[in-house]
Amino acid sequence: MGGDGSMNEPDDAASGPQPLELPAGLTFLCRCGRSRQGWFCDGAHLGTGQLAREVLLAAPGTVQVCGCGRSRHYPLCDGSHGRAVVKRWWMGWRWGPRAAPAPTPEHP
Ligand code: FES
Repeated sequence: MGGDGSMNEPDDAASGPQPLELPAGLTFLCRCGRSRQGWFCDGAHLGTGQLAREVLLAAPGTVQVCGCGRSRHYPLCDGSHGRAVVKRWWMGWRWGPRAAPAPTPEHP
């Protein structure tokens, strides 16, 4: 929920896109969140079934990385931070209250 109480805003200002300076050439960015090198892949994803995100730049430049965690192209921002969070009525639905267990001779 947003700071003003709305469901359409990110929780804080830091959850938007963040600039990341990259050198020219191929850079591997972390997609699994286990890297000890921040946004950069250090191979910690091995065994998780995930791969690093490859970014190829012809010249040094800046990319926008996702600060909200909602991007479908994580760790790169895809604009999902600006989309409304849609909460459907069934998303909070549970199977209702459980019936009390039947009494047994040990636990009447
Ligand atoms: S910050 Fe843009 S999609 Fe997350």
